[in-house]
Amino acid sequence: MNMTDFITQLPKAELHLHLEGSLEPALMMQLANRNGITLPYADIAAIKAAYQFSNLQDFLDIYYQGANVLQTEQDFFDLTWAYLLRCKAQGVVHTEPFFDPQTHTDRGISFKVLIKGISAALKQAETELGISSYLILSFLRHLSEEAAFETLEMAMPYRDQFIAVGLDSSEMGHPPEKFQRVFAKARAKGFKTVAHAGEEGPPAYVWSALDQLNVDRIDHGVRAYEDAELMQRLIDEQIPLTVCPLSNTRLKVFADMSDHTILKMLDQGVMVTVNSDDPAYFGGYVAENYMALYESLAMSPAQARQLAINSIKASFLPDERKLSII
Ligand code: ADE
Ligand code: ZN
Repeated sequence: MNMTDFITQLPKAELHLHLEGSLEPALMMQLANRNGITLPYADIAAIKAAYQFSNLQDFLDIYYQGANVLQTEQDFFDLTWAYLLRCKAQGVVHTEPFFDPQTHTDRGISFKVLIKGISAALKQAETELGISSYLILSFLRHLSEEAAFETLEMAMPYRDQFIAVGLDSSEMGHPPEKFQRVFAKARAKGFKTVAHAGEEGPPAYVWSALDQLNVDRIDHGVRAYEDAELMQRLIDEQIPLTVCPLSNTRLKVFADMSDHTILKMLDQGVMVTVNSDDPAYFGGYVAENYMALYESLAMSPAQARQLAINSIKASFLPDERKLSII
C-alpha cells in the first residue's frame, strides 16, 4: 500500500479546522455570483494567486474578506457540506470544526442563519456519510472580551448545537488572559474550551491558556517546543496540541517543512495531532498535511498511525466511541 492510501484508510479525527477557511476559490466565486457580490479578483486563478502570506495577519486580512460571500443559510450549508465531502474522501470519521460567528454577525448576518446552515450539513453528514461532529464556537481575540460575552449570549438559544468555545484570530498582543472571564462563564455553562496559543505567540501564551483559561486543548502550540518546562507539563498532563503543518509553513511559523518539530514532539510523548486549519488557503486538507510530514520529515507508518490514534483520543467523543474507532 502506498503512503497516501495508508494515510487515507487510517480512521482520523480533525480537531482544528475553521469552516470559513475551507472556502475553496471556486465556491467563493460561485457564492459571490449567487449573492451579487463583486470580488476584487477577476477569476479563480487570481484568487489563488493572492494566497501568498508572510505572517498570520496577512492571511487573516484575505480570509475575512473571503468570508463576505457567505450570506444565506444555504451558503453556510454548502460551505460545510463541501468540507464534509473532503472528510469522507480522506478517512476523517469525526470532526470538531470551528466557526467564527463574529465574522458574520458584525456584518449583519444573523447567528440563526449561520448556525442553522452549518448544523444542517453536520447532521446530514452523520446520516449520509457516517461522519460524526461537534462544533466549536470561536471568539475573535482582536475584538473585546465584552464582544465575546455578547456572542456567547447570542448563541445560548442554540447551546445544544456546539460543544466548546475557542479563541482565534490575531494572536500577538491579544493574550489568552484577555478572555479569562468569558471562558470561565462558558465553562460554568458546561462548555469545553480550547484556544489558539503558541502559533505566533510565545510559550507564555500557552501557559496562560492552560492556567487562566483552563483549556482542554491547545490549538497549534508549536512554540511550546522552546520551553522545556512547558513541554514537560504537556507530556505529564497529556494536553493535546492540534498542530497544522501546512498552515505553519504557509504563515512562516517554520521556514520550511523540514524544520517542523511535530514529530520530535510526538516522539517525546506530547499528545500532538495533525490538522488542516484553513485548507482552502494553505494547500491541503488533513491527508495532505500527513503527506507533507512523510515527504519532508520521513514520517514512518507507525508515527502516522500514532498521530491518527492521538486525534481520536484528543477529541471530545465519549470514551466508548473512541475505543470503537481505535
Ligand atoms: N483563524 C483562522 N485560521 C487561524 C489561525 N491559523 N490562527 C488564528 N486565527 C485563525
Ligand atoms: Zn486555526
